[in-house]
Amino acid sequence: MEKILKELENLQEEAKLAIGKAKSDVELNDVKAQYLGKKSKYQEVMQLMRGLSVDDKKKLGMAGNDYKMKVEAEVEKKVLELEKQKIKEKLAKETIDVTLPAPKLSKGSIHPLMQVKEEFEDICIEMGYEVEEGPDVEWDKYNFEMLNVPKDHPARDMQDTFYITSETLLRSHTSPVQVRTMLKKKGKPFKIICPGAAYRRDNDDATHSHQFSQIEGLVVGKDITMADLKGTLTTIFTKLFGKEMNIRFRPSFFPFTEPSVEVDVSCYKCGGKGCPLCKHTGWIELLGAGMVHPNVSEMAGYDSKKYTGFAFGVGLERLTMVKYQIDDIREFYTNNLKFMRQF
Ligand code: DAH
Repeated sequence: MEKILKELENLQEEAKLAIGKAKSDVELNDVKAQYLGKKSKYQEVMQLMRGLSVDDKKKLGMAGNDYKMKVEAEVEKKVLELEKQKIKEKLAKETIDVTLPAPKLSKGSIHPLMQVKEEFEDICIEMGYEVEEGPDVEWDKYNFEMLNVPKDHPARDMQDTFYITSETLLRSHTSPVQVRTMLKKKGKPFKIICPGAAYRRDNDDATHSHQFSQIEGLVVGKDITMADLKGTLTTIFTKLFGKEMNIRFRPSFFPFTEPSVEVDVSCYKCGGKGCPLCKHTGWIELLGAGMVHPNVSEMAGYDSKKYTGFAFGVGLERLTMVKYQIDDIREFYTNNLKFMRQF
C-alpha cells in the first residue's frame, strides 16, 4: 500500500514538472492526457483499487482525489500563465514605433484664381473696403440700363450677352453690383469691391472664356478724383505683385464712366524695359476704370453735385495670368493637376 501511495506522490511531482515545461496549449493538453487521461499512469494506479482491503481502498481513493485536484490546479495555473504570455507577445508584436516617419498624405491647394482673389480682397479690406456680392442671373435694368446703357444703345454690342428673358440675363460684367450697392447705401458714401463671375457669348480660346471672373471696385464720396483712382490702383498692384508698380491711364470709353480710362501697369517681368511678356512695350493692359458717370449716380439716387466716385473693373483671370505668366486661360478650368500643383 505504501508503495502505491508513494507512486502517486511521485507521479504528482512528475506531472507538476511536465506541466511547468509545456510551452503551448497543445503541449499542455498532451501533458494533461498523459497524467489525468483514461490511459494515464494515474488510471493504472487507480485500477489497483480492486484488489485492496476496504481500508486501503479508502486511503487510495482519498490519495487519488488529492492527486487529481492538485494536478488539475497545476493545469489551471498553467492555462492562465500561457494566456498571459500570449497577450504579452501580441502586445510586443503590435507596438507602434512613433519615431518612424509617417506615410505621406497628399494635400490639396487653393486654386490660383482664388488665391489672387483673396489677396486682392485682403489688400482692399485693409484699406477700408467692404466686399459686396451680386447674383449671376441679373436684371437687364442693373446690367445695362442703370449703367447708362439704354435698350438698343450701340454700347450693348461691346458685350455679347446671354439673355434668359427680355428682362433677365447672365451678367456680362460685375458692374451691376455698383447699381445694387448704390441703391442699398441710399445716398451715403462708401467703398466696395465685388468679386464674381461674368458671362459673355465668346468662343473659348487662349484668352477668352464664356464664363470668367471680375473684381469690380467702386468708391463714392466727397471730392473723389482721378488722382484717388490712380493712387488706389498703384497701391493695390504694388501690394499684389510685391514690387513697385507704375500705372498709366489711356483714354477709353465706357458708358458708365466719364472720363473713362484703360489702365496699364508696368510690366511685371521686365519692370518696363520691354520683354516678350509685354510685347516690348514695357506696359501691360490690365483693366478698365473711370469716374462714375453722373447719369449712373443720379439714377441710383445720388446727388452727383455732392458726391463723385471712381470705379474700376479688372479681369481676375487676366490678372492671374500676368502674375504667374500663364498663357492660356483654359488652364484655370480644366482641372489639370499638374498645372494646379504649381500654386
Ligand atoms: N465693366 C467693364 C467690362 O466688363 C469693366 C469696367 C470698366 C468696370 C470701367 C468699371 C469701370 O467699373 O469703371 O468691360
